[in-house]
Amino acid sequence: MQERKTIHESWGSRWIFILAATGSAVGLGNIWKFPYITGENGGGAFVLVYLVCILAVGIPIMMAEVMIGRRGQQSPINAMRDVAEESGHSGRWSLVGWMGVLAGFMIFSFYSVVAGWVLYYLASMGAGDLVAIGSDTAVQRFEGLLADFDTLLIWHTVFVVMVMLVIMGGVRKGLENAVKFMMPALFVLLFVLLIYSMQSGSFMRGWSFMFDFNIEKLTMQSVLIALGHSFFTLSLGMGAIMAYGSYMPKHTSIGGSVLMIGGLDTLVALVAGLAIFPIVFANQLDPGAGPGLMFITLPVAFGQMPGGQIFGFLFFMLVGLAAWTSAISLVEPATAWLTERFGWHRIPSSLVLGVIIWLLGVAALSSFNVLADFKIFGFTIFDFLDFTTANIMLPLGGLFIAVFAGWFMKQVHSREELAISNAIWFKAWYITLRYVAPVAVAVIFILNLYEKLQ
Ligand code: TRP
Repeated sequence: MQERKTIHESWGSRWIFILAATGSAVGLGNIWKFPYITGENGGGAFVLVYLVCILAVGIPIMMAEVMIGRRGQQSPINAMRDVAEESGHSGRWSLVGWMGVLAGFMIFSFYSVVAGWVLYYLASMGAGDLVAIGSDTAVQRFEGLLADFDTLLIWHTVFVVMVMLVIMGGVRKGLENAVKFMMPALFVLLFVLLIYSMQSGSFMRGWSFMFDFNIEKLTMQSVLIALGHSFFTLSLGMGAIMAYGSYMPKHTSIGGSVLMIGGLDTLVALVAGLAIFPIVFANQLDPGAGPGLMFITLPVAFGQMPGGQIFGFLFFMLVGLAAWTSAISLVEPATAWLTERFGWHRIPSSLVLGVIIWLLGVAALSSFNVLADFKIFGFTIFDFLDFTTANIMLPLGGLFIAVFAGWFMKQVHSREELAISNAIWFKAWYITLRYVAPVAVAVIFILNLYEKLQ
């Protein structure tokens, strides 16, 4: 096997790679979105579909991303080009990397706005501003925040700076140090909150809300949601995991690591649900709708509970950490590319990217106030960014990656890179990647678009 030289640093160990990729995967998607859609879509049955999607689509594609990244030893753009050329195909496969960089910018811009809300709530909890607030006040609070351009701008800016400081430090001093401390902290916080919710008196209600096998609540639509979410939650389809894979030490198992990452991501989502719903039920609140659950319902719940101020603070700290370690992975592919293409150091690269991302975020946050009436295809800027990335760019990126790894990349190369000793496991992966994953993604992609555009 020819060994490529890399200009990048690599992770200190296989464990660091697993922590970093888990950090990317575990984010707002797990703590806010997953519990809510699980409850809405029939609990247990939905969880089962979601698990199948993670195993049959998510894991195989994640293995492909890590594999291409490690083989290419570069940013997704250049890795896709080189790995394609190595198999005798067009270097234009780098376009998949380009689309990923663009998707990363777009996701970052709205992710950073939501992370800004989290920081604002963290500060408010810390200051004791949310003690004993009622539902009406909580709604006013959240709506007031959305209408307040300056406050949104401040917290969005803080978040961009936090992320860029880590990016600036590079793979070892920045990313590795960040995940080494933040991920264990995240696990501890989650565990503490789980214990807290177990003592709320409504733990079993929360449990059955999430796990009761309610097959009649399961619709075609919820299958689509499960598949789409398994994609977003694993950070697939834009090269984030590919970039992280390119820093993975050679001769370490890709399959085993990816199973671990997928398992941890799923575990965090399930535990987050079990930490949140009992608290909601214990306070006779509605497990209801999206953004409201985290920013309206939960503050009310915490506000009424003993120690609620402290645990509310810890909760928003947990969400903030999760968002932070996820957002890093959204800019890493672009940073790596700038370093490769222009030989730039990490500092100028992160400054340039920071400015681009900050500006896009300003556009996204304006859609709640000054630009509320500005619509693209009927979407506000924020919704447009969310919709286009999650429903179009990520599925498309994932589809291309599966097709590339399954049909274009030479099989000897993937065999070599994955180094799976058991022939049956390799075959299972290969067949899933060639047939199951692309078909499933294509179907969800088309049905989703059809559904949304009606
Ligand atoms: N997985 C993260 C979450 O669940 C979000 C995320 C980070 C992401 N990097 C990504 C999603 C890359 C898609 C692609 O919140």
